Parts: sequence; C-alpha cells; structure tokens
Amino acid sequence: MNKILVIGSGAREHAIVRALDRSPQEKEIFCLASNMNPGIAELCDELAVGNFNDPAFVVSYAKETGATLAIIGPENPLANGVADALWEAGIKVVGPKKDLAQLETSKAFTRDLLKSYNIPGGPKYQTFNVMNGVADFLNELGENYVVKYDGLMGGKGVKVAGDHLHSHEEAIAYCQELVDSDGEFVIEEKFVGEEFSLMSFCDGDNLKHMPAVQDHKRAYEGDTGPNTGGMGTYSDANHSLPFLNDNDIAEAHAINIATAKALKDKFGEGYKGVLYGGFMATANGVKLIEYNARFGDPEAMNVLSLLESDFIDICNAIADGTLDQIDVQFANKATVCKYTVPEGYPDSPVKGEHIDVSGTSNPDGLFYASVDIQNGQLVEAGSRTVAVIGLADSISEAEAIAEKEVSSITGPLFHRKDIGTDAVIQKRVDHMGALRSKC
Ligand code: AMP
Ligand code: GLY
Repeated sequence: MNKILVIGSGAREHAIVRALDRSPQEKEIFCLASNMNPGIAELCDELAVGNFNDPAFVVSYAKETGATLAIIGPENPLANGVADALWEAGIKVVGPKKDLAQLETSKAFTRDLLKSYNIPGGPKYQTFNVMNGVADFLNELGENYVVKYDGLMGGKGVKVAGDHLHSHEEAIAYCQELVDSDGEFVIEEKFVGEEFSLMSFCDGDNLKHMPAVQDHKRAYEGDTGPNTGGMGTYSDANHSLPFLNDNDIAEAHAINIATAKALKDKFGEGYKGVLYGGFMATANGVKLIEYNARFGDPEAMNVLSLLESDFIDICNAIADGTLDQIDVQFANKATVCKYTVPEGYPDSPVKGEHIDVSGTSNPDGLFYASVDIQNGQLVEAGSRTVAVIGLADSISEAEAIAEKEVSSITGPLFHRKDIGTDAVIQKRVDHMGALRSKC
C-alpha cells in the first residue's frame, strides 16, 4: 500500500494530488495544507491544516499518517530542511534536501555552481554585500544589468534594467537599500529573449525531461503591471514552444543534466526532486535565468495534465534512484492554463469574498489554489484563486477551452484573456525571429 503525504495546498499541489489519484495502485493520500483546498480534500484520505515549514511538525504528522513517501510542493519547506528531517525519520522524499535546495534559495550559489563546473548559460555577474565595486561593475555592464537580492523573495527581489530600474543612480539606490538591510545581492548581465520553463524529474543521477512551458509573470494583459507568481502558461503538442528550435530544447536539457551532475559532485549526494530551469532563449543560445527546486506553479498543471505514466511510480523512482527504469510519457497535446485572481492582486487583493465555480463544465480541468470555505461557501483567500486548463491538439484550441472555463467563474476576480491567444504567440515568435536574424 502506498501511503503518500503531499505538502502544500495550492493549485500545484491539487495537480500533484490529481496525478497521484489517477494511478491504479492501491494508495492513501494525505495533505499537510496551509488552507482548506476543497479539490485536494475531496481526493485525499485526510487534509490537515498546519505549519508545513516546521520540519519537526511535518515529521510528526507524517508519522501519524504512516506515510512512506512525501512530496514537497512549495519552496519554503525545502529551504527549511523539511526534506532532510523526513529522510532522517525514514520517510522517502520527492524534493531536495536543504543544501541542494540552495539552487533556488540562493542566486549566488547557483551562479557560482554553474561557473565552477563550466556549465554554459550563465551571465557575467558579481556578488556584493557592500557598495564597494558596485558602480564599477554597473559601468562594465552598461545598460544591460539586473540586481537580485540573494534570498527567497517570491520574485520581488529582482530588479531589471529598463523595467524596474531606469538609471545607474536608481540601481545604486536599490543596492544601498539591500546593504542597509544586511542583504547580499548579485548584479548580473541582462539577457534579451523569450523565457521558458524546462522541468526535469531527477533521482540524483538520472533525469527525465518534461515538456517546455511558457509562463506569464506580469499581472495584466500585454505583459504589463506588477510581477506575480504567474498568471498563466501554455505548452505545445510537440513538447517544444513555437518560438524555440530543437537546439534550444537540447541546450536546456544539457544544462539541467550538467547541473544535477555538479550538485552530486559538490555534495556527494544527488538531487531528488523536480529540477526547474527558468531559461531564456536568446540570439546567442539558451541562458539560465534561475533555478527552482520544485514544480512550477502554474507549470505543474500543464505538464501533469499531460502525464500518461504512473505518477506514483515516478515519485518512488525519484526517491529510490531508479528513474532510468521508468518510461515517462506525456500526451502529444497542447495545454493552456489560466489563473483567475482576486481584484487588486497582487498588491492589494480583496479577501474573503464569495466566488462561484458552478458554471464551469470540466471539473477535471479545475485546480483550486488560494481559496477557503467560510460558512459552507467558497471564498477567495487573497492570492491566485483558481486555475483552469484547456487541453487540445493546438494551443489555439486549448486557449479557447481555458478562456471559456475561466470566464465562467464569477466573483470579484480577474484573469488575463491574452495568454495563449494566436496574437500573443505570434508576438513571441516574431520577437525571437527578429533577435535571431540580427546575428
Ligand atoms: P528570477 O527570480 O531570478 O527568476 O527573476 C525574476 C524575473 O526577472 C525573471 O523571470 C526574468 O523575467 C527577470 N530576470 C532575472 N534575471 C534576468 C537576466 N539575467 N536577464 C533578463 N531578465 C532577467
Ligand atoms: N511559474 C513560476 C514559479 O513557479 O516560480
């Protein structure tokens, strides 16, 4: 009997639980959650709300349930050493130990790792904790620079020239702010191109790659407005993206493989979990923007909706180091995922307002995220609320399905209508074409 504990309770974890539930194996699924997610609760034997960032608490709950395998959804428990504590208690884990999760938690760690192992795709960069040398390095980079706070800040610690910073003076002021709060930061070369996510299952030695996905981080249509956790994503039937070529995909695979190897060499033990490369296709090849140590959200909804292989087998193989023996297959379909979020999101989201999902037509394509149940009613809990997925032969058809579904959810919400539309896809293709033709 498989007894599996899923940690986290957003739409990503709803997608994880749904993929586990599809397995024909005998199983019991438990969830340690931060909110009452009705979609997860329906599929689980038990959903318990508690502090899943506390390793001792997670271990005690895992023991209570008799779980033999845990899957960690979000980054914070990884950063706090929840994987280490579970392994120590004899429970297998999908999700890296704290040292290896530095790939996500420290920008400087990742840049240094790639550099010392000669892995391609890194920018020119320097790490600072004082102002000494900052102005000189900015001068060396000219107009193309990015300043990144060296820690978890939900994407908000990154300021990009032209977007958030409009002069070296503004960049210096931001760096000074970080120095004053005792922060370390990285200044690096800004890349120009199209971003994509390429996630790989990794058992420490072997990798199995998932389809490429493109996320949309900006809150409003036309890629405007503040950065968010991701407003929506799409993937294509051939598992590439319309603006990428075969070489781009091969380069991203090679960077993930080399990074897993470097981690094993550095720490003497391998990375077991999902290795999520945030890449940018540029005129000069594929560059690495960042690593995440977990499934992307919304990317998990795209790829897990396509997964044809038994997800319980994959998770056990990640933990056991036997992924080479598993055939990991994804359907050749396109996907479009759209999030509906509270009015005012991300800066001042409304909270506690009733929403209604009864108008949607495909319950299997609906993923609950930041919601709660109050007086028997579904309410918004203040962050990305519900995601829907459209699955079809083309991105265009998948978009039409996702748009129809997401528009039928009512309440004080909004979503991006443009994600996955023909016009936006063409814009990405034209942008990449123009960059490539210049070199
Ligand atoms: P990160 O938290 O490192 O993913 O950064 C957040 C966002 O900042 C990324 O999704 C990119 O859009 C942008 N960004 C980060 N680093 C770079 C870079 N070197 N060049 C261009 N854009 C970047
Ligand atoms: N989709 C962005 C993230 O999961 O970090």
